[in-house]
Amino acid sequence: MKEVEFTEEYHTQIETIDYEHAKLFQYINNIINAAQLGEGSRLIIEINLDELISYTVYHFKTEEELMQKLNDPNYESHKKAHDALKERVLDFKKRFDAEENITEELVSFLENWLIKHIKGVDMQYVELFKENNVK
Ligand SMILES: [Fe+2]
Ligand SMILES: [Fe+2]
Repeated sequence: MKEVEFTEEYHTQIETIDYEHAKLFQYINNIINAAQLGEGSRLIIEINLDELISYTVYHFKTEEELMQKLNDPNYESHKKAHDALKERVLDFKKRFDAEENITEELVSFLENWLIKHIKGVDMQYVELFKENNVK
């Protein structure tokens, strides 16, 4: 599995958001790298998966609070997308805890949602955030 690069196409040019998105990429890359280790990778994957889940919850809150504050008309649908993603990641965590070998499936799900969600959904608030001077 290849690392995912946080390239320009994923940048919103809003510092807080890009910082948080970069961290999400980092956790995914830690999981990808750990997966190459074979034996002994489980604990590293577990630690990074847990970090990823709590950071995702934190990041979604950042976006949701800003959208609410700025009366973003997409707030409801964006929050629904977040809730659905949270549920799916937690489901992977359950399977991981049940000793299922989910690493590849997990990584491709994570890459996919990150890319799709940032480019498709997050980009919708960029103009509004910038107009309101969100840094
Ligand atoms: Fe989002
Ligand atoms: Fe986001």
